[in-house]
Amino acid sequence: MLSIEKYRSVFISYLESKTETKEPKNLYAPITYILKLGGKRLRPVLVLLTAQLFEKDHNDALDAALAIEVFHNFSLVHDDIMDDAPKRRGKPTVHEKWDINTGILSGDAMLIMAYQLFENYEVHIFKNLAKLFSKTALEVCEGQQYDVDFETREDVTLQEYLKMIEYKTAVLVAAAMKMGAIVAEASDKSQEEMYSFGLNLGIAFQLQDDYLDVYGDPETFGKQVGGDIIENKKTYLFIKAMEAGSTSNRKQLQDLYSIQPKETEGKVEAVKTIFTESGAAAATQEAIVNYTKKAFAVLEGLELTQEKKDILRAFGEHLMQRTV
Ligand code: IPE
Ligand code: IPE
Ligand code: MG
Ligand code: MG
Ligand code: MG
Repeated sequence: MLSIEKYRSVFISYLESKTETKEPKNLYAPITYILKLGGKRLRPVLVLLTAQLFEKDHNDALDAALAIEVFHNFSLVHDDIMDDAPKRRGKPTVHEKWDINTGILSGDAMLIMAYQLFENYEVHIFKNLAKLFSKTALEVCEGQQYDVDFETREDVTLQEYLKMIEYKTAVLVAAAMKMGAIVAEASDKSQEEMYSFGLNLGIAFQLQDDYLDVYGDPETFGKQVGGDIIENKKTYLFIKAMEAGSTSNRKQLQDLYSIQPKETEGKVEAVKTIFTESGAAAATQEAIVNYTKKAFAVLEGLELTQEKKDILRAFGEHLMQRTV
């Protein structure tokens, strides 16, 4: 097994060797831009790591890892259009740097490129990867639609929210791990266990994404802090504040989320204060720990050496410390 840092650097070298800006430039330059903008490379690292957990050379999982990362970046390009987001990884988003039409088409091309990478696997692995990928990609679309639908609803339940983040985010983290297991030709049982670990970790990951969107450090976060508040996103913070906040907190929050235009002077600060005072921030942090623990509980039943379980546990703990 290699260190997480090593998997990341192996992956980045591979990505760089495979990324070229062909003609037409206006199609491929945005793709190179977003792929080389950095990011944590969480999903591809999980693909490589999982393949290696089941005794497969991690190099054999590089194309699956690249497919997942290209898909993830495609989803970010389109997500930033949908969320009207100005910044990604500390730089202008694709639709800000170019325009919305460029973001749509370059994103579409990335989705196709992601699928193409599976062609490098022999037929039965190809089929399993493609099948999982299609199911996952469609679920991400469903999650994204719920996320947008919820912007204009005030009665989103916790259960609906959890379903939404499972689909928009967690299934891809889960699929990354299952893909590593597929490439390694691990048993069906192992594949499902990896999926389940990834799913819980992915839910914790999106909860933390919601938290950081409000409480992240604007200097280092890389995205517009308060973006979810501006867009009236129904995050865990919002739902908890509406559940546990005082009557006046709840009324104020409702008013702040219904004023037009969506971005008004003082809105982000006012909402942030309510999230903190109502205990919603603390509840979110608690939920992050709980879903990470759920992922760790999956580990207990796995037929892996203690050393390998420890690597997965350390990965989960490391994620909880993140600030971007
Ligand atoms: C952002 O994903 C979108 C979410 C699902 C929360 P990441 O936080 O993994 O983004 P990068 O790739 O590290 O920039
Ligand atoms: C991201 O959700 C989910 C997908 C991109 C599919 P967010 O909208 O919260 O992601 P960020 O915060 O923009 O990275
Ligand atoms: Mg977004
Ligand atoms: Mg979004
Ligand atoms: Mg977010």
